[in-house]
Amino acid sequence: HRILLLGAPGAGKGTQSKKLAEEYGIDHVTTGDALRANKDMETEFGTPRSFMEAGELVPDPVVNEIVKTALSDADGFVLDGYPRNLDQAEYLSDITDLDAVVFLDVDDEVLVDRLTGRRMDPETGEIYHVDFDWPDDETIRERLVQREDDQEDTVRDRLEVYRENTEPVIEHFRQEGDLVEIDGEATPEEVFDRIRDVIEP
Ligand code: AP5
Ligand code: ZN
Repeated sequence: HRILLLGAPGAGKGTQSKKLAEEYGIDHVTTGDALRANKDMETEFGTPRSFMEAGELVPDPVVNEIVKTALSDADGFVLDGYPRNLDQAEYLSDITDLDAVVFLDVDDEVLVDRLTGRRMDPETGEIYHVDFDWPDDETIRERLVQREDDQEDTVRDRLEVYRENTEPVIEHFRQEGDLVEIDGEATPEEVFDRIRDVIEP
């Protein structure tokens, strides 16, 4: 399987990609995690951190390189967080073919709640939410951290960047007739079932 998962910040791309990678035995390729792991890497444009903390896109050449390497190592994959603008979409079509393009549709106010309440486990990478998915284990609870770009004002900036740069990508796949749109406002398990249904008809 070569699956592309599109959606706004907080739509549930990370949550669902993880499940899909497990279900189909494919790689979870995520530019966000890759960039967070290399935040302080020096590039000719500066560090990824400087862009990410402002909610802005990291320059295309940096991200394109990450994706090219990750996809060439993968047998199957679910791609999360890329492409985020039309130039990235064109680059992607030059380096690989896709068998499914899935768009998770979620309303803005729900996105803000999901992002501002998200917490991450730095030890396992597991994603939680203060209202929707809070761990019982106190040891885990105590080590959870908030992502630096999940403060409400940065969340609003990320949604702006999404409107301006990434929505045209969604529109591009819609016009090509390749896009499967899924209502992302349900429990993670229900959303997963909906995605699985379109991947294995
Ligand atoms: P990235 O890490 O990709 O962030 P994002 O696209 O903003 O998406 P998120 O990770 O915030 O949301 P998600 O859809 O994965 O939601 P999640 O499953 O965690 O990118 C971060 C930054 O890196 C960018 O701003 C940019 O600077 C840079 N970058 C990355 N890719 C780039 C690129 N291609 N080009 C340039 N720059 C790039 O869920 C969110 C929360 O909701 C969690 O708490 C979760 O528990 C909860 N939740 C999930 N599903 C549900 C549900 N069904 N019901 C209730 N709660 C739910
Ligand atoms: Zn994510």
